Amino acid sequence: MEFDLQKDLKSVLFSAETIQSRVKELAREIEESCQGEEITVISIINGAIIFTADLIRRVRLPVRLDCIRASSYGNETRPVHAPKIIDSVRLDVEGRHVLLVDDILDTGNTLRTVRNELMECSPASVRTCVLLDKKARRSVDFEADLVGFEIPDEFVVGYGLDFAERYRHLPCIGVLKEELQEL
Ligand code: IMP
Ligand code: MG
Repeated sequence: MEFDLQKDLKSVLFSAETIQSRVKELAREIEESCQGEEITVISIINGAIIFTADLIRRVRLPVRLDCIRASSYGNETRPVHAPKIIDSVRLDVEGRHVLLVDDILDTGNTLRTVRNELMECSPASVRTCVLLDKKARRSVDFEADLVGFEIPDEFVVGYGLDFAERYRHLPCIGVLKEELQEL
């Protein structure tokens, strides 16, 4: 059954099935690069909640999980101020292999800020995994180690990505109709 909220989308970029099969591939890549070692997954919430939940259930490695809360958007579709870490990690990361997970890499400010903060805690390594990469919007020098899909510069929602906290629960990812990108 199609989600009724899908009528708010101008187009669907990735169906639920396409996302799931890419998530499975990313999990394999994580396993290969970690060679059996435990990883400490840090999910940047709220956006990465759904992606993280699916990804870690596919990873056949010991996993510790924590979240970090960063904010930069408010209710806008463009960042309104530099990202802030509102709630930091509780787990110790010193000497650990950290995998930072986010929904989308846009300007790069969020991941750069979060990675710099984690580096202060002397982890053994920090790798980054994002589901989406909007390369055209990058304003700082930052690339993720693992990327699910590259996307054009359009405002997307679904599978964790929101507009004003809505649409996160859509199982697919699509471009939000322009007339709905206003509050
Ligand atoms: P960055 O700091 O500019 O890289 O932005 C990263 C954050 O912005 C992500 O974690 C998302 O929460 C949000 N974001 C960027 N682009 C989109 C989008 O197209 N839809 C929804 N959220 C987005
Ligand atoms: Mg986010």
